[in-house]
Amino acid sequence: MKIGIGSDHGGFELKEHIKDYFEKEGIDYLDYGTNSLDSVDYPDYGRKLAEGVLSGEVDKGIAICGTGIGISIACNKVKGIRCALCGDTYSARMSVEHNNANIMALGGRVIGKDLAIEIVSIWLKSQFQGGRHERRINKISDIEG
Ligand code: RB5
Repeated sequence: MKIGIGSDHGGFELKEHIKDYFEKEGIDYLDYGTNSLDSVDYPDYGRKLAEGVLSGEVDKGIAICGTGIGISIACNKVKGIRCALCGDTYSARMSVEHNNANIMALGGRVIGKDLAIEIVSIWLKSQFQGGRHERRINKISDIEG
């Protein structure tokens, strides 16, 4: 399993912290940028990450901006992406079990680093439950057309 991770400047520090966690845990990842605190536009990084997930270059993605809102909106504009903005571990688990989220968004200026790692760790361990949830996800795809 390879995890894509991308952020704007508002999410850069948390991205680097999560990468340290990946290194420590031996989790394979691909960094889609940004690579500094210089101001950039979050849709560019959300789009690169979302396209990486869709193409199969990575299996899942983590998108980070200041609030997590802008980059999650951008990711969700890419057809086939289900990006869930998570600020707690319960939502992180449910976003996979019920919504089969293929990208999780985090707010780098909102949550603490330790909570972010717990959220990421639970999100990575969670499994989609299928069944009635599959039907509902298919209805989301129908909306995309
Ligand atoms: C950048 O200042 C900030 O707007 C961005 O990181 C994000 O919070 C947008 O939703």
